Amino acid sequence: MPSSFIVLRLSVCSLLLVAFCFSKTTHSFVLLQRGTIPTSISIPTATPQFEQRDKIRQGFKSSATGRPQRLHTYLEARDNASKSPVNNATAFKTIAQPKLIRGEQYKNENSTLPSPEVIAAKLGVRPSKEASKGTWQRAWKLHKRLIPLLHSTDGCKPPDSSLNLACMWWKALSGNDRSSPVYDKELSYDLLPSGWRKILRLRRFYPRLHHANVELRTAYLDGRVGEIAAQQQNGGNPKKIRLVCMGAGYDTRGVKMIERTTVDRVIELDLPEVVNAKERLFWRLLKRRPWLKEFECSMPTLVPSDFNDLLDVEQKLRALLLGDEPDGPDEKAEWHTIFVFEGVMIYLNDGVPSSLLGLTSKILRENNLEGSICFADRLENVPGGDYDAGVNELKKNGWELKDWSPKPGLARHMGYASLSLQ
Ligand SMILES: C[S@@+](CC[C@H](N)C(=O)[O-])C[C@H]1O[C@@H](n2cnc3c(N)ncnc32)[C@H](O)[C@@H]1O
Repeated sequence: MPSSFIVLRLSVCSLLLVAFCFSKTTHSFVLLQRGTIPTSISIPTATPQFEQRDKIRQGFKSSATGRPQRLHTYLEARDNASKSPVNNATAFKTIAQPKLIRGEQYKNENSTLPSPEVIAAKLGVRPSKEASKGTWQRAWKLHKRLIPLLHSTDGCKPPDSSLNLACMWWKALSGNDRSSPVYDKELSYDLLPSGWRKILRLRRFYPRLHHANVELRTAYLDGRVGEIAAQQQNGGNPKKIRLVCMGAGYDTRGVKMIERTTVDRVIELDLPEVVNAKERLFWRLLKRRPWLKEFECSMPTLVPSDFNDLLDVEQKLRALLLGDEPDGPDEKAEWHTIFVFEGVMIYLNDGVPSSLLGLTSKILRENNLEGSICFADRLENVPGGDYDAGVNELKKNGWELKDWSPKPGLARHMGYASLSLQ
């Protein structure tokens, strides 16, 4: 398909969506001006949606451990909040960060990376469209320009940090696609702003470019986390599963794994402004999906941290991981911790991605804890998709590579590893 046609479709699609959403958003805006929208948001009590929740639960397997969750930090913080976070949202903004995208750009991918078709087939995902580099760039620029508009009437006003808003929309595009392995029953859609999110009803007309690439990451990571959790829960010595999402942005994997009862606890770390915004987004999410409050496992614990400050990350991870453990050495390792890195290492200072790999393994090992790591990111010291370089990078940081599935794109290293025996 000629690239100009793809871009034309993108533009027409965007214009249609703008027109479609305009009446909705104008209406909300007028109401806001008149003060008819309530000034405080209360978390609704879950009753009418029980049927919907049960339908969702039917589709998911139940937890093997079924043990109660100890910490409900997010909900406690929410209940203690004296003001509605939604109404204290600041204006739309982009978090300023130095241009730190590490490594070569797409054009320099080397032959050790498989084609998108190969990895898509492996994951059961429809491959992205064949398009020129220019088309990919134009599609990206258009999406980037649309983002402030899409959030112009968003009460939560999440700031844009290292493309996390773009990821949020791309993930919702795939999450709404029933034919995709990452179909999430509108979970990621429920994080999006009212009115404008209806744009995704025109998903079919949206060319499969960037969101198809991100879909590979989602399919890979969801699959690996599910597999590791199942192995740990079904073995002779079942473990509780703790998912730690590093640089989680506005991703919904943590909530998805709670909804599917795949994990027992979720911790998400990101920059403070992103964490603040995600609290507001969760507030709205719980209104839209009230059955989430009924789950044994609480909503994710949100932890602000700048990963370039390794000392801060270390202190916070130690406190969080050890806080879950019962007293007494015999009861240690009740948990299996799965760290997930998705598209965050790319934005960190030189040396930090490797240090984070070493830090996570060190904290687990020093405290006799078990764990794994899943990543769809850009490892340091691995220029292309070279398997041996991947093995070495993980090994020297305390991890043993179990699967290596590189793909084209900046977050090109997909794989998982377990704590190496030393
Ligand atoms: C491309 S987004 C990916 C978000 C999410 N993992 C996903 O796939 O949807 C990159 C994320 O990394 C976070 N990030 C960038 N620099 C960071 C830092 N120094 N410390 C912590 N998080 C950071 C950003 O705030 C952003 O949420």
